[in-house]
Amino acid sequence: MPRCPLVAGNWKMNGLLASLAEVAAMGTAYDAALKSKVELIICPPTTLIGPALEAATQGGLGLGAQDCHVAANGAHTGDISAEMLKDLGASYVIVGHSERRADHGETDEIVQAKAAAALRAGLKPIICVGETRAEREAGQALAVVGRQIEGSLPADAPGTIVVAYEPVWAIGTGLTPTPADVAEMHEFVRERVEARLGGGKSEAVRILYGGSVKPANARELMSVPNVDGALVGGASLKAIDFMAIAEAYR
Ligand code: 13P
Repeated sequence: MPRCPLVAGNWKMNGLLASLAEVAAMGTAYDAALKSKVELIICPPTTLIGPALEAATQGGLGLGAQDCHVAANGAHTGDISAEMLKDLGASYVIVGHSERRADHGETDEIVQAKAAAALRAGLKPIICVGETRAEREAGQALAVVGRQIEGSLPADAPGTIVVAYEPVWAIGTGLTPTPADVAEMHEFVRERVEARLGGGKSEAVRILYGGSVKPANARELMSVPNVDGALVGGASLKAIDFMAIAEAYR
């Protein structure tokens, strides 16, 4: 079974109700031919998941969240569980984004627990990994990402999980690795995912590239072997840019 590519938009802490017009516009441009080539989802802030559901469903887009708590419910003021996100209409949740690892001290152990929580609730986790600039310059990129995969993926996860390789130094900077570096890393990621999950499950796992994906570089990046789609930040806020990236798969 070939893997169906996935292009996911991570809106981060951006978007108000007025931004839902962009979701509607994405749906209009997402025609039947494109739907047969690529799956599209938007991960808006949690506040917009419920409000976006109608436009997303009408347009054939899926919805994801950007984080979840490890518990299903309980005394955790301000937190949101995977079950709550599922209840709102989400089908995916990003876990372990480098901004959460940095801003909230999320360790591989926490990320793994969040991925397990997502699976418990019936959500597909998008588990993020990626090295810093200093780590790449020190020749440690593969070692760092290998450790993150070992630590952040539940060992019993199914092939429906998604892994996103997002080099920290490429996020929001306009910088991207060379296609050769992306190819080397994504091949390595699939090997390490197989070592972690076993049983040939890694063949079904989609490995996304994230970090300064734009309409201008999408075709080149998405045609690299073992790149099964993109996790897009800034360029996912506007339908025109996000759909131009998705068009790489037409
Ligand atoms: P940019 O596309 O804005 O570089 O962000 C990438 C990212 O962090 C997606 O999760």
